[in-house]
Amino acid sequence: MPTVGELLQTATLRLRTSGSESPRLDAELLLGWAIGADRTRLIAHPEAPVGADAASAYESAVARREAGEPVAYIRGLKEFHGLAFVVDARALIPRPETELLVTQAEREVAWRLTSAPRPAGTPPVRVVDVGTGSGAIAIGLAVLLRKRRMLPEVSILAVDSSAEALDLARENAVGHAVADEIDFVESDLLPAGERPFDVILANLPYIPSADLATLPVAASFEPRGALDGGPDGLAVIRRLLATLPVALASNGTALLEIGFDQCPALEVAVAELPGEWTSRVDNDLSGRPRLAHVERARPAAGMLGGLGAAPGLR
Ligand SMILES: C[S@@+](CC[C@H](N)C(=O)[O-])C[C@H]1O[C@@H](n2cnc3c(N)ncnc32)[C@H](O)[C@@H]1O
Repeated sequence: MPTVGELLQTATLRLRTSGSESPRLDAELLLGWAIGADRTRLIAHPEAPVGADAASAYESAVARREAGEPVAYIRGLKEFHGLAFVVDARALIPRPETELLVTQAEREVAWRLTSAPRPAGTPPVRVVDVGTGSGAIAIGLAVLLRKRRMLPEVSILAVDSSAEALDLARENAVGHAVADEIDFVESDLLPAGERPFDVILANLPYIPSADLATLPVAASFEPRGALDGGPDGLAVIRRLLATLPVALASNGTALLEIGFDQCPALEVAVAELPGEWTSRVDNDLSGRPRLAHVERARPAAGMLGGLGAAPGLR
């Protein structure tokens, strides 16, 4: 019977040769999945024997990874914002940088719920996640708001143009016990006839079409419609921006994930919207500008007292 250490060593070599950028980590994650143990147990017990069934499952998993398939699809699982999401080829694998969007969304919602009294009958804070994919953003936010007992005062809509992605998102919502808290709707961007939203969240496709061929092979296993942002990457995001004058409540905020080099083009698109709008962009954990906040411009504090706090005060 092969040992954990032997299997890891062989697979690491194979995955390095096949071009993986993280061959040892991939090998550990896949072996942990095959034998039903976490990585720390593998690392602590390299001498442990691995049974025939687990070794065979591991062999096919390593072969799939050698062919370029992402580890998350092979395991059927991805950690996002401390939650385990079921993932498969129906939707994009949620990326760590998108966790910033969830954190900022929680902040936006909490600010709206706590910055002013909410007499009985005040309508819920309306949030929409456009292009929900696996449901990572909407579900991550719902779970955070549930912990803070804020969910009853919030309505969350999650939309996607892909029926397959929505099926996966619903499955994840059930898995995290928030299926009753989120409405899932198939739609090209925002469904018609909705009342304006207080918070619009979107991680829409933003890769320029010509760059798709340069992505790591793992991305070719993900739906093209989740990645392809048209000629300059901003085609879908521009269409969403164009809906903001009607779709965003007067003191609403749109949080949009963008590519690290798209900030200038996004600012131009925002400046072209009818009316007065502002945008600022937060950096991700590696210091790159990735999260755009788009809002209607408000008079400077003190000029017209009582029209709402400046965004920076949140
Ligand atoms: C980059 S993925 C993001 C998925 C998920 N929000 C996340 O962060 O992991 C973009 C998602 O937007 C969806 N999408 C693309 N174009 C759309 C459109 N016009 N209307 C609604 N959803 C769209 C895709 O199907 C895909 O699920």
